[in-house]
Amino acid sequence: MAKIATNTNHVIVKTSLCLLPPLLLAVVFYLHFQTQLSMFSPVCRCAGQPAAVPGAVVDRLRASATFLPLKDTRQGAETWFISTLNATAEPEAEARNLVFPSPASAGRLLCLAAPSRRDGAKNAYAFAWRDALPRGAVLLPGLAFVSETAYDHTNIWHGLTALVPFASWHARSGCRARPVRWALFHQGEVRTEMSGWLATLEEAATGAAVAIETFDAPGEACFEEAVVFRANVAGMNKERMLRAADFMRCKARAYCGVDASSSSKAGGSGEGEGDASAALRVTLLFRAGARAFKDEAAVTRVFEECRRVGGCAVAAAHANNLTFCEQVRLLSSTDVLISAHGAQMTNMLFMDRNSSVMEFYPLGWKQRAGGGQYVYRWMADWTGMRHEGSWWEPVGEPCPDNPDILDCWKERQIGHNETYFAEWAARVFAAAKERKARSAAAEASSGDQRR
Ligand SMILES: *[C@@H]1O[C@H](CO)[C@@H](O)[C@H](O)[C@H]1NC(C)=O
Ligand SMILES: *[C@@H]1O[C@H](CO)[C@@H](O)[C@H](O)[C@H]1NC(C)=O
Ligand SMILES: *[C@@H]1O[C@H](CO)[C@@H](O)[C@H](O)[C@H]1NC(C)=O
Ligand SMILES: *[C@@H]1O[C@H](CO)[C@@H](O)[C@H](O)[C@H]1NC(C)=O
Repeated sequence: MAKIATNTNHVIVKTSLCLLPPLLLAVVFYLHFQTQLSMFSPVCRCAGQPAAVPGAVVDRLRASATFLPLKDTRQGAETWFISTLNATAEPEAEARNLVFPSPASAGRLLCLAAPSRRDGAKNAYAFAWRDALPRGAVLLPGLAFVSETAYDHTNIWHGLTALVPFASWHARSGCRARPVRWALFHQGEVRTEMSGWLATLEEAATGAAVAIETFDAPGEACFEEAVVFRANVAGMNKERMLRAADFMRCKARAYCGVDASSSSKAGGSGEGEGDASAALRVTLLFRAGARAFKDEAAVTRVFEECRRVGGCAVAAAHANNLTFCEQVRLLSSTDVLISAHGAQMTNMLFMDRNSSVMEFYPLGWKQRAGGGQYVYRWMADWTGMRHEGSWWEPVGEPCPDNPDILDCWKERQIGHNETYFAEWAARVFAAAKERKARSAAAEASSGDQRR
């Protein structure tokens, strides 16, 4: 009797051992199925709890999550962040990303142990099933936007290139995918700041205020859902960029209560205000400090010459004393933006498509700054604006202790050349005015056809 019992026990043990791999597989597929395709439906996980999974199996699954360095130093910059997965674009020509949970992650969540703000190789990631997170790990509910950039989320230009793919992702979800939190990384190092302008733009675009994860709490953090962009806009084509810019422009205007259909009547701030009939709205967006114009009054006078010829309104403003929404409002009613090279130029995003940009640099940039100085030409290209060229200050007092022309001049104030500015403005303004008149006529005639 005892012997039989032992045998039976033996058989049971054997049977359960044989059953373990299929059972494990079943668990894997169950969790996988349960979590995949949930990306764009963040809330609805109400249908049924998972069937009870034997505790021993869960323990094994928990232990199977392996933490690897977030920054894989054997890899190139585009892939060192979570290097064991390939990023993909869906649809093609969008920026490449990683989604958790997803079929590619076998239904697993992304878990991060990220104590370091200095060394990305000291931070780590693992994949784990929702119902078998590593011991001590904390489940962070909702959708996380995880951004790794080789640049900087506090610099408006660089931060914008990191933000665009998320805005596009959100738009493609039918505006349902709203981030509960952001996890920001620079080469795998934790970052906890985003420029205020970007954070407001993000909030306008997704409807969710930016909350940045600090990773200060004890335990690894596992995101209920996460989308990772680790190479800014890499993979995104021009058409997709334009579409994302249109989306952000539209959302920012709505957020700020700017009625785009009446933007031609809204006028700028300051001197442009009230001139509703102006055929052309010109905005001088000044900087304070580095790369400001030496003589703003003289520069303003030159461009105001267009008033004499008629049909133009000139608004002058300092970017630093406008709120985000004041910037959106002003640029929504601007046909030509005149500004010195610098972060405030990112506001071109808010102009109507086909509007014009004129850019100014101190001495030294043209000679030595290389391709990076053209970022606002690129931006004009992917926001659908016309970059009308640049003026580089041609001469200046040398720096006695600094033979490097860029280092010496980079942040200095910018002079002006009345003759050059006036001729350039006349050309740009005339063409812009003509384009505007043509598109207004086209709009009117298509309106007639509809009637
Ligand atoms: C990623 O892509 C490379 C090259 O296309 C391939 O060799 C590698 O196996 C892929 N890795 C994974 C995890 O799919
Ligand atoms: C805006 O800022 C500039 C420079 O920072 C300053 O000179 C100017 O007076 C300010 N204008 C207003 C209206 O506050
Ligand atoms: C922009 O201008 C081009 C021609 O210069 C025109 O074909 C296009 O329709 C314009 N786009 C918009 C949005 O006005
Ligand atoms: C100012 O611009 C005009 C027209 O381009 C040019 O002929 C002149 O040499 C410039 N003056 C200076 C001081 O650079």
